[in-house]
Amino acid sequence: MKKELDGTALNQLFLEAHTFNKFTDQPVADDTIKKIYDLLKWGPTAVNCQPGRYVFVKSQEGKARLAPALSEGNVAKVNAAPVTVIVAVDSRFYDHLPEQWTAYDARKPFADDAAAAQTVGFRNGTLEGAYLILAARALGLDAGPMSGFSNAKVDAEFFPDGRFKSNFLVNLGYGVAEGGYYPRGPRLTFDDAATII
Ligand SMILES: Cc1cc2nc3c(=O)[nH]c(=O)nc-3n(C[C@H](O)[C@H](O)[C@H](O)COP(=O)(O)O)c2cc1C
Repeated sequence: MKKELDGTALNQLFLEAHTFNKFTDQPVADDTIKKIYDLLKWGPTAVNCQPGRYVFVKSQEGKARLAPALSEGNVAKVNAAPVTVIVAVDSRFYDHLPEQWTAYDARKPFADDAAAAQTVGFRNGTLEGAYLILAARALGLDAGPMSGFSNAKVDAEFFPDGRFKSNFLVNLGYGVAEGGYYPRGPRLTFDDAATII
């Protein structure tokens, strides 16, 4: 029988977790990056598809390639972050389905229907990006997701063959506790956002 996570875990994942804009100089080890992937990959997706693709940009060269695509307000945040992840979607994610989903031929419906492939790829790739944020938090890192950038420019620079499509960016690192994030914005109440029927 599983137990509810303790308060420390809930605080780290949700209640005291913030979106960080400033990070300390502490680097993020490549082994930590691999651990993030080895957690996020277990998050559930439709027909066990894994459309998420991730470019972990650590180097100054990589950051310089990203910079021209960024909204002005995100340039300093990306430059200051130890890692910026390009969370992308493999538009041909269904080519992996014969190994990932053996119950029946799940590839063909997507190979034959571009609109369905786009919807399912984007939906599940976005879920995987959310799992990435929670995996990073679980490992003690802080995250700063961003959609303020030109997807077309990122795609032209990083994915020129057109197969992968950028979705959003996530800065990763160890957040600056004092002034590293904005005050919490209010959230909708349960009654505003949900019903139980
Ligand atoms: C998909 C996504 C896109 C976002 N885009 C930006 C962005 O371009 N620039 C930025 O400064 N913050 C961006 N944010 C940060 C949000 O404003 C922030 O996560 C939200 O206000 C919650 O803040 P909190 O986690 O500190 O409570 C983005 C967040 C998400 C999840």
